Amino acid sequence: MAGLQVARMYQTKNDLPESTRVEAIGLLNQRLAESIDLQTQCKQAHWNVKGASFIALHKLFDEINEDVEEYVDLLAERVVQLGGVAEGTVSVVAERSTLAGYPLGLSTGSEHVGALSDALAAFGRSVRLGIEEMDEADDADSADILTEISRGIDKWLWFVEAHQQA
Ligand SMILES: [Fe+2]
Repeated sequence: MAGLQVARMYQTKNDLPESTRVEAIGLLNQRLAESIDLQTQCKQAHWNVKGASFIALHKLFDEINEDVEEYVDLLAERVVQLGGVAEGTVSVVAERSTLAGYPLGLSTGSEHVGALSDALAAFGRSVRLGIEEMDEADDADSADILTEISRGIDKWLWFVEAHQQA
């Protein structure tokens, strides 16, 4: 994986070939950075949304945050299961995440719906590309984890985007 570094590898009795594990660890750490970034964006929206739909969106954005926190854990722990080091510090995330920065000046429900649906869609695309790569690398379990995350993100994108579709 170009541009992705594996900090170190631990010995494991996991029978996936080392080359597969190295590739999966790089990809999963990249998605880990993006998922942590997404989680902070959900909270940013949860805290700052205002207007007539305040309470519905405030609660919705926190529900999404809770699911994304589970995705963060799934990704990080898969990295460690494969003998890698989960790289989830704020400084790594800031350097590595490919998501656009969440704008700080947003206020209305429709502004936050727009920004958070952009972030969900971008993360969803990145996760879906990861499914393909993990399929090609013959790591069915990482592909399965990414598929679970992708399914959840597609659902949450619907929940957020529905506010703009009427
Ligand atoms: Fe809260």
